[in-house]
Amino acid sequence: MVEILTHLCCFSIVIRLHIDLLIDPNLSYIDSLMPKISIPQKNLHLDIEKNSNLMNSLLAAGLPVASSCHGEGICSMCKVKITGLVNPAENFELETLKRNKCEPNERLSCQITVTSDLIVSAKYW
Ligand code: FES
Repeated sequence: MVEILTHLCCFSIVIRLHIDLLIDPNLSYIDSLMPKISIPQKNLHLDIEKNSNLMNSLLAAGLPVASSCHGEGICSMCKVKITGLVNPAENFELETLKRNKCEPNERLSCQITVTSDLIVSAKYW
């Protein structure tokens, strides 16, 4: 009985994957579990754990990320340009971005939770 249920479960997962891929051929379950950060300036692609902090992920990969507030969202030195979906900026981040005259597509990397594939660039890379 357990064997039949296991086969049935596997079969339904395979069918679900095929249906999802028919709907969106670019869909990748591996990407959704391990989002990819692409850094064209460095010709670098990082697979990171979903829900990781962007600044910490960049630092862990050996990339320099400027900071004087150590990720508190105050200094704006960690700002990066991002293409992709990320968590919306909280009010304090918006105030920091405005106070430091950041460009519209710039975000504080210390305030980004990575949940999907991103393209990231920084002026100093
Ligand atoms: S490290 Fe200072 S705002 Fe991000």
